[in-house]
This record gives sequence, C-alpha cells and structure tokens, in this order.
Amino acid sequence: MHHFEYKNNELHAENISIKELAAEYGTPLYVYSAATLRRHFEAFDSAFSGLEHMTCYSVKANSNLSVLKLLAEQGAGMDIVSGGELYRALKAGVPANKIVFSGVGKKAYEIAEALKADILMFNVESVGELHRINEVAASMNKIARISFRINPNVDPKTHPYISTGMKKNKFGLDMETAKKAYKTAKELASITPIGMDCHIGSQLTTIEPFLEALEKLLSFRDELGEMGITIEHLDLGGGLGITYDEEQPPHPKEFGEALCKALEGKKLKVILEPGRVIAGNAGILVSEVIYTKKTPTKDFLIVDAGMNDLIRPSLYQSYHNISEVIKNERPEVDYDVVGPICESGDFLAKDRHLPEMLQGELIAVYSAGAYGFTMSSNYNSRLRAAEIIVDGDDVIVARRRETYEDLLNLEA
Ligand code: LLP
Repeated sequence: MHHFEYKNNELHAENISIKELAAEYGTPLYVYSAATLRRHFEAFDSAFSGLEHMTCYSVKANSNLSVLKLLAEQGAGMDIVSGGELYRALKAGVPANKIVFSGVGKKAYEIAEALKADILMFNVESVGELHRINEVAASMNKIARISFRINPNVDPKTHPYISTGMKKNKFGLDMETAKKAYKTAKELASITPIGMDCHIGSQLTTIEPFLEALEKLLSFRDELGEMGITIEHLDLGGGLGITYDEEQPPHPKEFGEALCKALEGKKLKVILEPGRVIAGNAGILVSEVIYTKKTPTKDFLIVDAGMNDLIRPSLYQSYHNISEVIKNERPEVDYDVVGPICESGDFLAKDRHLPEMLQGELIAVYSAGAYGFTMSSNYNSRLRAAEIIVDGDDVIVARRRETYEDLLNLEA
C-alpha cells in the first residue's frame, strides 16, 4: 500500500500533484511519501510486538538524512555498513544503542568510530575482522559487543546478485568456523559475544527460507550454550520482498507471526533489518520524455532518467512498473524505455505497454524508494537527481539537485 494515486487523471503523491513537483523541481526527480514510510515502518514493527525486538532499518536502502530522521522519529534503530552510514544515522538522531554494524569489510577507522559512538554491536563476518575489532577496542580501552554473521547455507530463491546466505557467497561464517570463532571471541579481552546474526538475501517472496535459517540458528545457539556461550541477541537481517510486478510476498504481519511463533519462549532479543519493505514502494522516480524514436524494429521512449539514476533494471533486469503521470486516451505502444547514457544496457523497461507518449510528457517509475538514489552515480557527468519528500500538503526538499559546481567540487 502506498500513497501515489491518480486524482482527476493526474498522479499525486499524497496531496501534491507530481506534475507540479516536476515543474518546480525539474526531472529526473525522486519523490517519497512520508505517510507511506511511516505506515510501512509501523506495519513492520508492530508485526513483532509479541517479541522483545528492535527494528533496525537498513540504511543502504535509502539513506537520505530526512528519511532517516523520519524513521528515527518513529523509533527505528539502524543497520549500517560503513562509517558514512554511521555518520548519517547519528546525525539523524538515532541513539547509538539502536545501531548495529554489518558488512564484510569494516576498516579500522570505521570500527573506531563505531566504538567511540558506543553502538549496540558489530555483526562480524570473518575471523580477521574479529581480531581487528579486538585490537582497535583494546587501543581505545573499550569492550566491543559482537555477533557473528552465520551463513546458514539456505537458498533464498531470489536473484543471484542479492542472495547472500549460501555457501558460495562471501558473507558470514559457516557454522563450523563460527563455533571456533565464538570460542576465540570469548577469550579475547576486548570482545564480548552477545548475539548471532544472519541475512540470507534480499527480495524474498516466501517465508520458508527465513524459517529454515532460523531453525538452523536456534540449534546452533543450543550448541553454543553447551560451550558456555550465552546468546541474548538474534539478528535476523532484512530481506522481506515487495511487489514490483506480480510478486505476492507475505505481508509483514504474516512474516512477523511466523517468526514470533518460531521464537516463542526462546528469551531472545530479536533484531530485524528491513530496508526495501520500508522504503521501496514509498518512492517513485519521475522522468520526462525527451524524445520518442521509432526504428524498423522498436519504439523507444528516450527519457531523462538513466541507469545512473536507477540502476536496478540494468544490473538485475529488475521490473519496475511505469505509468504516465497524466492519464491519456491514446492507443498503447510497446516501448523500450531508455535513458540518455551511452550504453545499450541503459534502460528502465523493455517492451512495456504504455499509452502513446509525447515529447515533454512525464512518466513515473514505481518502487524506486529503495536502492534507487542510493545506487545512483554521476556516470556520463550527469547531475544526480533531487529528492523530495511529500508529507500531506507539505513538500520537503530532502536533497537538492546537483549542480555543475558540485560535479567538479572535489577535483583539482
Ligand atoms: N541487512 C543486511 C546485512 C543486508 O546486507 C541488507 C541488504 C539488508 C539488511 C536489507 O535488505 P532488504 O530488507 O532491503 O532486502 N541493491 C539490491 C539489494 C541489495 C541488498 C543488500 N543487502 C537491489 O536493488 O535489489
């Protein structure tokens, strides 16, 4: 459910006309709905109210400071993967004891920054990282709370690029290695193991892989208990999918109920790291048709948003629904919707039926609130888009459009 709807044949974000936003702020333009973000967070978080839990929004999905502030006001904790994300989360007012630090390649300075802030815990992904954290913590006279990220070897049945919990993936530790790692961690003076973590992949559309991973983790917890290691925190990562096309992922309520049932009486503090399910359908990318072009085999709609603005279709062949911003009655055309970038892989959609579109008209690309702007770049020296948040009747410029000065700002 989101708040992008047609009113009198014109697409609106909450109470604001998209056409007016485009006229005021230009295109390509990311538009987020505050009511949708709040609603998604609340739906997800309340699904776990039966458990002691913390919802740590995964910052990588959409890290705009205003988005983070809005979620922090809802009580969100945050899952971060870099010093930059830590900086954003703290600036957004997230209490450090609601921050968990994931990722396979944390550098010493990032570890030091997180220790200084006194975050809840590090999700450790290798033995090398464990020793690095121990050294940094010792040099600062601190104790680092950690979890190991377990790779449970479960097939999440999603796109291979966003599957993370299988043996062949770079993430986490297999259980045998993890067992030894916990033993080592227990002996290290500046480390306290407090939890277990796993994240098996993203855009999962069924609950079974989560439950399969959970079952493996719970029996692993018992083995650790026998070794005298007490696990209080269980971080189950993110990964719950959304509807881009015709997928029917479980509603967060159904997801929560299944997990709460499996965790009943286990006395664990549960951490969840949802990203896409909070932000994905809370954002659209608005783009203007620059040209229409007919070749002997194709009709192209050349729009002003390219793979530098939204890379998901090019990178994962992912489907994003597209519609015209102002409804029209013209007959449908089968379009390849492409951007201005000099790459054949620069497309937003292929063979998409849309009513005939004319130069200067606007399209909306849906489900662009997660992994949209955060994965954007300046390729082809294109200026990154502006980001707008609509909140009822209010419009917030959450990030202004870049300028040519911004483009050269860091160069000699
Ligand atoms: N926790 C960890 C440790 C993660 O690596 C991720 C996502 C999440 C949580 C949040 O997952 P979510 O709830 O959003 O599925 N760029 C790709 C997605 C990559 C996801 C990476 N990790 C895409 O556009 O589909």
